[in-house]
Amino acid sequence: MRLASLLGAALLFTAPALAFAQDAAGNAEAGQRVFNQCRACHTINQGGRNGVGPNLWGVWERQAGSIEGFRYSAPMRERAASLKWDEATLRAYLTDPKAVVPGGSMAFPGIRNPEQLTDLIAYLRAQR
Ligand code: HEC
Repeated sequence: MRLASLLGAALLFTAPALAFAQDAAGNAEAGQRVFNQCRACHTINQGGRNGVGPNLWGVWERQAGSIEGFRYSAPMRERAASLKWDEATLRAYLTDPKAVVPGGSMAFPGIRNPEQLTDLIAYLRAQR
């Protein structure tokens, strides 16, 4: 009895905290729907083939331009050594790819909705 009510109280207190954590970190499920805009060019399953763009499995904290056998643009190859995909770099690149890699070959205008971006990044981060 006592344990049950303690557990109940603990749940009451942690549930809003969890909801908040999810808000702050983005909603990967919603991010998966945002990713539909990327599927024309990218696979994201483990071992997926490269398409117009490189496979994105494990892109989180991956060095840019590092997928073997994918033909990156020359500007991406030049930027690659100093570019790693994390929260800040993904946010910048996916907002405006040409601003981060001028002359790069990702023909995508970018996502300007900050909430969609946060969700998308949560989804990308989870695919590893
Ligand atoms: C029209 C095709 C196209 C679309 C749509 C597209 N991309 Fe790309 N993406 C590319 C290409 C091509 C590259 C390689 C860029 C280069 O070499 O300059 C790339 C590169 C990337 C990279 C860098 C990968 C690496 O290995 O360094 C990331 C991350 C990325 N895309 C994410 C996305 C996401 C997320 C979306 C959807 C919001 C998206 N892309 C939509 C074509 C596309």
